[in-house]
Amino acid sequence: LLRSNLVRLVAVSAASNVTGALTDIHLVARLAHQYGAEIFVDASQLVAHRPIIRKSKNDPEHIDFLAFSGHKMYAPFGLGVLVANKSCFKEGWPDVAGGGTISMIDGNDVIWSDLPARESGGTPNYPGVISLAVAATQIKQFGYEQIKAHEHELTTMFRNTVASIEGITVYRQLENMNHDHLAIFPFSAKDYHHALVGAFLGTEKAIGVRTGHLCQFSLVSKFTAVTQISKEVLKSELNRGLKHNMFGVVRASCGLGNTAADIVLLSEALTELIAKGPRATYLQNTDGDYLAVGWEPDTTSFHF
Ligand SMILES: Cc1ncc(COP(=O)(O)O)c(C=O)c1O
Repeated sequence: LLRSNLVRLVAVSAASNVTGALTDIHLVARLAHQYGAEIFVDASQLVAHRPIIRKSKNDPEHIDFLAFSGHKMYAPFGLGVLVANKSCFKEGWPDVAGGGTISMIDGNDVIWSDLPARESGGTPNYPGVISLAVAATQIKQFGYEQIKAHEHELTTMFRNTVASIEGITVYRQLENMNHDHLAIFPFSAKDYHHALVGAFLGTEKAIGVRTGHLCQFSLVSKFTAVTQISKEVLKSELNRGLKHNMFGVVRASCGLGNTAADIVLLSEALTELIAKGPRATYLQNTDGDYLAVGWEPDTTSFHF
């Protein structure tokens, strides 16, 4: 495709939100530039875990555009970052035309403000920006080398505990890894529906995981066929708003807040699920979610 010289922008994720695999973004950048394209990197999954070096414009491995969401690096929701050369923002209309972006209007004639006001329509999200700066500073102070070492420790713990449970299938490489991965673990448990595993872990064990297609339909559909129906039947169900047979995985995504002890708790919970099944009764709704019926948490086991 690149050789056709018709591609203007190559967009790539810096890290997989399903497997934690890292993309060699500088290799992709070199290839894109070789064929006259630019590169956009979605760094949402990477920014809190590994350093990102943009490199100078003269370097064929430089990154032209980079974006990430603040909430992926421990800042509040509602703020994202787009990194690009200033020249990109100087032509055409601003992304959001509003208060502060305009120097003057005369009939249909608009004189836009200079940057950065030109791209800052409306009242800025001050608390978001300040929190993001604090989060970035703290991650830097903590140190990416330490974060990487911590994630490798969690990965080793996952491999030695959860991954060795009979009935657990892990959908990523954990052994003989030649490439660095984030501490993200997609798996399924026996023939339990992914949403039931998530509901069990959340309701009975206070362990938060994400379940489902993880917005990676093609990859996740290849991983798991927990619901043994054809894609045609599934599509027809989804067209009627019935999501209960949707394919998916369970994903444990670890970060700075997790310890090796958390992985052990996850492993114990999954061992119990596979051996005895859930304690609560769960009913699935048409959205595919499982909800516990009449479940009262055992508050005596919580210590505040
Ligand atoms: C790689 C990647 N890009 C983008 C997003 C979406 O970010 P946002 O929640 O800000 O829309 C996600 C969210 O999970 C993600 O994993």
